[in-house]
Amino acid sequence: MNALPQHVKIVEVGPRDGLQNEKEVIPADVKIELVNRLTAAGFVNIEAASFVSPKWVPQMATSSEVMAGIDRRRGVVYSALVPNMKGLEAAIAAHADEAVIFAAASEAFSQKNINCSIAESIERFVPVAQEAKKNGMRLRGSISCAFGCPYQGEVPLAAVLDVVRRMRDLGCDEIDIADTIGVGNPRQVHEIMGQAQREFPVDRLAGHFHDTYGQGIANIYAALEAGISIFHSSVAGLGGCPYAKGATGNVSTEDVLFLMQGLGISTGINLDTVVDAGQFIARHLGRRSVSRAGNALAAKRASAE
Ligand code: HMG
Ligand code: MG
Repeated sequence: MNALPQHVKIVEVGPRDGLQNEKEVIPADVKIELVNRLTAAGFVNIEAASFVSPKWVPQMATSSEVMAGIDRRRGVVYSALVPNMKGLEAAIAAHADEAVIFAAASEAFSQKNINCSIAESIERFVPVAQEAKKNGMRLRGSISCAFGCPYQGEVPLAAVLDVVRRMRDLGCDEIDIADTIGVGNPRQVHEIMGQAQREFPVDRLAGHFHDTYGQGIANIYAALEAGISIFHSSVAGLGGCPYAKGATGNVSTEDVLFLMQGLGISTGINLDTVVDAGQFIARHLGRRSVSRAGNALAAKRASAE
C-alpha cells in the first residue's frame, strides 16, 4: 500500500455535474455567483459548463452565458464538457481552459447518454481532441459507469481499461474514472485504480465518485491508498446524471475537505468559504444541502453566533 499523498487536487464539479440534473432552470446569474464563490474558495479547477445538446440537457443551455459572466482567477482551469465538434466550438468561443470528452465503460450507458457506441464516441473524439490541443486547451477524458451501470449492471474491468487506453491515445492530459451511480466499493477502487495506473500516469488519474449508496468517502480513502491524488466533488453534494436514473449527487466537497483536513492532506481550499457556497446554492434550490460536513459546520457556526 502506498503512503497517502501530502497534497490533493480537488476538482469542483458542482456547477456542471451538480446542477445539470436540476429540473427547474437556474438563472445564469445564480450559476455565475456559485462559480465565483468557488473561485474565491481557492479551487484550481472548476467544471463550470457543458456544451451538449440543450434538447438532451436543458439546464446546461446557459453555459456560454455562465462562462462569459464569471470572474476568472489567473491559474484556475475552468472546464467544459464537449460531446462533439459542435460542443468544442462553443467551448473555444467561451474560452474554456479545458475540454472534457466523455465516454462510458458500459455500452448500454453510452447509447443512453450520447446516443452512440463506445467505439463511435471515441472516433468522434479524434478530431475534437486534436482541435482542442491546437487551440491550446487542456484535455480531460471522463469514463462513466466504470463501477457499474444502471442499464447493464456489472461492467468488466477490461472494458474500463480499454477506455483508459483509448483516452490516453487521444492525448488526454488527465483521465477521471467515474462511479456514475455510486455503487462502487473500496475493494473495486483498489482493483480499478491499481490496474488503471499501469496504463496511465497515476498523478494524472482522478476519482469521480457519486455518493448514491453512501460510499463516496470510503471510496476516496481507498483511492488515496491506491495513490490517487485528484478527486472530483460537488459543493452541497449536488447532482446526479439525467441519463442514470436514481443516481444522486457527487460526494460532497465539504465532506471531502473535512476528510483531507483530518488526514493532514493539503488542498489549498478554504472549507469555510465552500460551506458558505453550499448554503448559498441550497438556499437558492429551496432545500437543505446534503453535505453532512457542510451542514454540521454551518450549524456549529450558527450556534456560536
Ligand atoms: P444526437 O441527437 O445523436 O445528435 O445527440 P445529433 O448530432 O443528431 O444532433 C441532434 C441535435 O442536437 C441537432 O439539433 C444538433 O444541432 C444538436 P437540431 O438539428 O435537432 O435542432 N447538437 C448540439 N447542440 C448544442 N451543442 C452540441 C450539440 N450537438 C448536437 N454540442 C449528443 C448526440 C451527443 C449531442 C447528445 O446525446 C448529447 O448532447 N448528450 C449529452 C448527454 C449529457 O450531457 N449527459 C450528462 C453528462 S455525462 C455525465 O454527467 C457523467 C460524468 O459526470 C461522469 C460520471 O459521473 O459518469 C461526466
Ligand atoms: Mg458525474
